[in-house]
Amino acid sequence: MALQLAPITENFGAVASGIDLRAGIDADVTAEIEDAMDKYAVLVWHDQPLDDDQHMAFTLNFGPLDMGLLNVTKKPNRFKHEGFVDIANVGIDGKLMARDAKSVTSSIANQFWHTDSSFMQTVAKYSLLSARVIPDAGGDTEFADLRAAYDELPDDLGDIVTDLMAEHHPLHSRILLGNVYTEEQMANIPPAKWPIVRTHPGSGREILFTPIHIHKIDGMSDPEARMLVDELIEHSTQPQFVYRHKWRPNDLVMWDNRCTLHRGRRFDLTARRDLRRTTVMEEPSTT
Ligand code: OGA
Ligand code: MN
Repeated sequence: MALQLAPITENFGAVASGIDLRAGIDADVTAEIEDAMDKYAVLVWHDQPLDDDQHMAFTLNFGPLDMGLLNVTKKPNRFKHEGFVDIANVGIDGKLMARDAKSVTSSIANQFWHTDSSFMQTVAKYSLLSARVIPDAGGDTEFADLRAAYDELPDDLGDIVTDLMAEHHPLHSRILLGNVYTEEQMANIPPAKWPIVRTHPGSGREILFTPIHIHKIDGMSDPEARMLVDELIEHSTQPQFVYRHKWRPNDLVMWDNRCTLHRGRRFDLTARRDLRRTTVMEEPSTT
């Protein structure tokens, strides 16, 4: 069967079907999915019970693996491949972790609006998140369309953000949660700099790139930068720009980090929530 798309809104989000992702896809289907991603930015696939090898093989059709901080944290994981990010309150032994376990509390940073790996020097392209166990309530994931957000930017904000450069640091969202790091820890992971207004390569449209990872903006004091980021996130995540995904087990959701923000929503941390993610980057030569 061929790829079928049921748009969620006219230009943002689509439910994709017609392909068994476990079977592997060829270059033509890969190109079709990339076209759909260029238009809709978020694709939802239901009933795709991928094992680790199948998830990884599907991922690598779209680019080289982005390791994010995995090479820095070097934590062993419960998967077959090092490149999986564990998005679960489950330990390496498969058991539910205590709600105050360090990796549970630090994963709460995913509940801020962010893009994956914006603090890397490479450009994170797609993330692919696969769900196994979902709590009865809560734990949705929301996505915001940064192209629409740019199109609807009020003129006064538009004047401010044109040509602004921002610095993204991976520990910033955790600092906002109250974690404290030494200067050495901060310096250990170098930040990345990106303009706030960028062009989305897939659609040629401008976007407002405002993930929570921004901790500094050139020419501004830190408090001024913080409030501007808050205001831009508030603008970009108005309901008309947002798709809220209610997970079912075996959903795979893929999104384009170059034109979206996303965040997880609160859930009961004593309930099991088990998802796993891969991310690919643009070919380094194109960044
Ligand atoms: C992620 C992420 C949010 C969630 O996987 O990158 O931010 O709802 N997830 O788990
Ligand atoms: Mn994320």
